Order: sequence, then C-alpha cells, then structure tokens
Amino acid sequence: MYILGIETSCDETGVAIYHSERGLIHHLLYSQIEMHSEYGGVVPELASRDHIRKLIPLIKQLLHESDLTKSNITAIAYTAGPGLMGALLVGAATAQSLAFAWQIPAVAVHHMEGHLLAPMLEENPPKFPFVALLISGGHTLLVKVSSVGQYELLGESLDDAAGEAFDKTAKLLGLNYPGGVKLSELAKFGQARFRFPRPMTDRPGLDFSFSGLKTFALNTFQNCDKTDQDKADIALAFQDAVADTLAIKCRRALQQTHLKTLVVAGGVSANTKIRAILTEMVTKEGGKIFFPRPEFCTDNGAMIAYAGYRRFLMGQIQNLEISARPRWSMSEF
Ligand code: KG4
Ligand code: ZN
Repeated sequence: MYILGIETSCDETGVAIYHSERGLIHHLLYSQIEMHSEYGGVVPELASRDHIRKLIPLIKQLLHESDLTKSNITAIAYTAGPGLMGALLVGAATAQSLAFAWQIPAVAVHHMEGHLLAPMLEENPPKFPFVALLISGGHTLLVKVSSVGQYELLGESLDDAAGEAFDKTAKLLGLNYPGGVKLSELAKFGQARFRFPRPMTDRPGLDFSFSGLKTFALNTFQNCDKTDQDKADIALAFQDAVADTLAIKCRRALQQTHLKTLVVAGGVSANTKIRAILTEMVTKEGGKIFFPRPEFCTDNGAMIAYAGYRRFLMGQIQNLEISARPRWSMSEF
C-alpha cells in the first residue's frame, strides 16, 4: 500500500510517499527559509499563503516522479498539529479534500510523533522499547516509547524548547533566521573560553530549562568586546552547555527506565556536536543510539507518511471534519 504524507505545520512544505513493503518511495521539500529570512523569523500568514501556492504542485510532482497516479494511493496522512494554525489548515484541508475526491481515508498525524518515528526510515531502525529525546523548535521532550502510540512522558522543557533557545541566542549574536544552524556553524570557530551552566542538572528529575542559558549568553555578550571571536566563543559555550545538559538528562532517563536504546530526533538533532556528545554518552553506557539522517531531523513529509502508515495500520482514520490542533500535547494520545 502507498501512503501519501503531507507536512505543513511551519515553514516547510513537505510531501512523501511511503510503501508498506518497499519503504520510502520519494519525498520532496520546499523550504520557505528565504522568504522568512527577510523578516528575521517565520511570518505565519506568509507561511500559510506559501503552503497554498506550493502544496498541490509538489504533490503532482511527487506522483509524477514516483511513476504513480492517484489510483495507487491507499491513504493520505497529514500533520494535524501542533504547529501554526493557518499552515496546518492548508495541509488538513488539502489532505481531506483529496481523500474525499479520491475516496480514500485520511489519517491525522501528530507532528512530534512524526519526528519520533523518523529514525524508523533508516536502514537499521531502532527496536522498541527505547527512550526518545525529541528536540525541535517548539518542543524538548524525553519519552519512554514502548511501541507506536505507547508513550510515557519522562521530562520536558519548562520554558524555551532547545531549538527556540538556539534561535534566540543566535539572534542576540546578530545571526539571522534560521539561527540554530548558523549558531552551530559559528561555534566551529569558537575557543573554549567561557563556561555556561548546565541547567537543572544539579537536582533530580528529567525536565529541562533553557531560557537561563540565553540570558547567560546575553550577559556574557554585553560584557565583552563583541568581536567575531567573542561571538564564536559564546556560540561554542552555549552549544556545549545544551549538548552536555541533554546528555546528562538522557543518561538519567536510560538509567531510570533500565533501557539501553536512545533515539534522538527533531530539528536540533541535526547538530553534529550534539550528535557526537550524545553518541559518546550512550557508548559509555553500553547502549545504542539512533538518529534520522540529517535531512529527516528537520521537518519533512517522509516522517509524516511513515507515522501515518503506522497509524493507518492501527485503524486510526480521520472523519471528514477539517480540523487542526495548533496545541496538542503528546500525552493526549
Ligand atoms: O523539527 P524542526 O524542523 O521544526 C519544529 O518542529 O520546530 O526544528 C527546527 C529547529 C529550529 O529551532 C532550528 O534552529 C533547529 O531546529 N535546528 C538546529 C540545527 N538545525 C535545525 N539547531 C541546532 N543545530 C542545528 N544544526
Ligand atoms: Zn518539527
């Protein structure tokens, strides 16, 4: 069976086709980065309008390049939340309308479940159960995953998400949107001169707090000459603090759950330093670590097609109502 996946929750229009036996057939992504960078961040109304412009042509191109037609598609999966309301509605309305016209089911997918299952698209996928660290622009979640749909929230960020902290720190260093990637590139030139705190690691628990790091970066920045080297040094100190904090909490989560497998996904998991530090920690613990390939760390249609496929197998089919949930806690399903 072929599942069409549609992702429009934020600033990327992603589409993909997943096949039950053959795996991922094809995926396409249109990024709105260039359009939003003029404004220093995502402008929700512009995001929605651009999804409207790009989505149908992308689906046509996807089918054409996959040598498939609408009659091959068994179900349509779409991101129903969380995300930007207008952007989500474009994907939801398109998916539901196509499903109605093609007389096939639509499957509503939780965006973070898409991220969580993205490593399953790789050649050696992780086996259940495992601990998942989801680090994106909107969420920082530690989850015990027993199987698809069986999630136990172990910890989350009490304030800024990891990606949000990257983006805000990047902004104060004068880097343009999307700041996370730019900050990590700048950090490569940094020297280990500053040491930032590892927030909430001196007490028990698996929750995170990243907003203090951003303030620490601001104070450090204001108290130095603001040279390019200063900026690179601050970027490095910030990135190391986030990476170490994530590693400390993940180690705790593995020990607490007596699990040996860590899955890391979401936009920030594309960060090479974070990948390296988490890999080192898991190796020391005698465990195994899994990441999606970098292009599937950030938003994409492939993870939605795959999550939709797994949900479809579980009989989760959406009624005809076109609805989107900008806020949707993962613990609700
Ligand atoms: O998963 P994602 O594409 O979208 C959300 O669901 O939010 O994550 C986007 C976030 C942004 O905050 C972006 O700055 C961050 O992931 N990000 C990175 C890197 N690549 C993307 N942060 C640090 N280093 C990176 N290489
Ligand atoms: Zn995402």
